[in-house]
Amino acid sequence: MIDMNMGARETPGLIEQEKPDAAIITHYHLDHSLWTRHVNTCSDAVIFIPKAEAPYLTSLDFFIEHTAGPLSIAEKWKDFTVDMGYLPLKTYECYNEQTTFKDMAPEIVLMETPGHSPSHTSFYFPDEKILFSGDMGLDRFGPWYGWTDCNVKQIVESILRLDGLAVNLILTSHGGVFEKQIPQAWAQCIRHIWQREEKIIQKLEAGMSKQDIIQQGVFFFDKEKAQEPMKFFLNTWDTVMYNHHEDLIKEGGLMAFFPEIRTMLNLF
Ligand SMILES: [Fe+2]
Repeated sequence: MIDMNMGARETPGLIEQEKPDAAIITHYHLDHSLWTRHVNTCSDAVIFIPKAEAPYLTSLDFFIEHTAGPLSIAEKWKDFTVDMGYLPLKTYECYNEQTTFKDMAPEIVLMETPGHSPSHTSFYFPDEKILFSGDMGLDRFGPWYGWTDCNVKQIVESILRLDGLAVNLILTSHGGVFEKQIPQAWAQCIRHIWQREEKIIQKLEAGMSKQDIIQQGVFFFDKEKAQEPMKFFLNTWDTVMYNHHEDLIKEGGLMAFFPEIRTMLNLF
């Protein structure tokens, strides 16, 4: 099972019901890894984690340092993480692109698709032409890059890599399943990023301040309605996403690096 992170109470039930041989984590983010820790306490299934993200899952200090570390939310984020039930993962195996699960599953091709996190991984089942795309951003909100360890250019590279696969069905972590118009879905993913960049440029040209642009929303709109500490986190994540765009704009913008996406987005 991949990302069996259904909830503190639901995950043990799911393990009991499905009795998986392996619990694979696509990336270290809490909503994909937190309750997978139950696997070790109530089954013999092996937890597989992406090798490059092992320190995030095995050390609270590393996790905080490399997510909120340089930001003012660090203390609140640490409290939240601990309250949610973060515990350093002790028993696990690491995977990389060369790993196969041939003893326990149909053929699975592991594809490094970094950007959303440093070592986010997607899982391709070539016989069935099914792709588990994790958090690539195939949902109505589009790709998320709200930590400083995210990388927008890598996200686009990863999307372009997955868009080249022969796929009949995509299973996503937050956007349900895609059976039709798969190339259009990938194009929409990139369109989200490009439209955010365009909006930021337009607002800057109109004389708006960085703070006001973030306040209006880069990824999260209606932040004012959120409760603390979530409101504080949403503001931070939008600030970080703004910063990623600011860096990219300084380097010439998305199109300077990926001229081929003009055709994908029907921009001529
Ligand atoms: Fe994520």
